[in-house]
Amino acid sequence: MKNVLVVGSTGQIGSELTMTLRRQIPGGTVVAGYIPGSEPKGEWLESGPSEIANVCDAAQMAAIVDKYKIDTIYNLAALLSAVAEKKPLLAWDIQMNGLLNILEIAREKGCAVFTPSSIGCFGPSSPKKNTPQDTIQRPKTMYGVTKVATELLSDYYYTKFGVDTRSVRFPGLISNVTLPGGGTTDYAVEIYYAAVKGEEYSCPIKAGTFMDMMYMPDALRACIDIMEADPDKLVHRNSFNVTAMSFDPEIIYAAIKELRPEFKMVYNVDPVRQAIAESWPDSLDDSCARSEWGWNPSYDLKSMTVDMIEKLSKKLL
Ligand code: SER
Repeated sequence: MKNVLVVGSTGQIGSELTMTLRRQIPGGTVVAGYIPGSEPKGEWLESGPSEIANVCDAAQMAAIVDKYKIDTIYNLAALLSAVAEKKPLLAWDIQMNGLLNILEIAREKGCAVFTPSSIGCFGPSSPKKNTPQDTIQRPKTMYGVTKVATELLSDYYYTKFGVDTRSVRFPGLISNVTLPGGGTTDYAVEIYYAAVKGEEYSCPIKAGTFMDMMYMPDALRACIDIMEADPDKLVHRNSFNVTAMSFDPEIIYAAIKELRPEFKMVYNVDPVRQAIAESWPDSLDDSCARSEWGWNPSYDLKSMTVDMIEKLSKKLL
């Protein structure tokens, strides 16, 4: 990995991945791809090149790949689960037609491709606890449908054309830099912002609803480690279960209250997000990622909570 294009570089994962890659590949070029209206600013703009890279415009992306001799594409353009339920056709267009554009460019120009999948690729008929790597995947959301199709299409391009496609199934990602945009797991980010600002938090997910989660530094490591893994050791490719923790709203609330005893949470359940959350696993089995490429997260709920509160206090207060 030397010359990298990050498509969706101003999003929740992209904003941090772009800067991490720029620090870690000193002799290379990391191009921040964005769509008009979400231009990179500040250090994102100053620390490397940026280009308009609309995933639905194949010619535009092919020109960027040629201009910077791109060898690896991080395809992070996507609508998250709750927004995708409101705009299913747009979600399909970005997630599927966009992916096909990228895979075709990768096939012609010899690029490796990372496209994240998600816990959303599972559905109510998947085993709920310790969901295995290889199991039933019959999601009920447009987000999930596109994630399963992404996994299949990426594996197809690997076996049929030899395109080096790799991926992980991310759980809810928690970070203090860029907010997620319309996912079901967003509550686990919002709750920290409310706690640090001293506001009461109104939780859209019911007590007792468990989902997997991960702190962003671990997620960034997953994005990079999977692309640098020895291909001979990979039995799977698209996509690996990865997780760091599993909790429900009461458990994260209690973890925050240990540091902010005055913090108060109430419930105002959003039926759309609640139905999505209930169709997803409670916890994933990530043993294949651990054995095939050494996945091992650093943060648990307690250490993440300490770091989130410290970083957000500096940012917001
Ligand atoms: N964080 C995503 C969502 O909630 C799931 O991977 O949509």
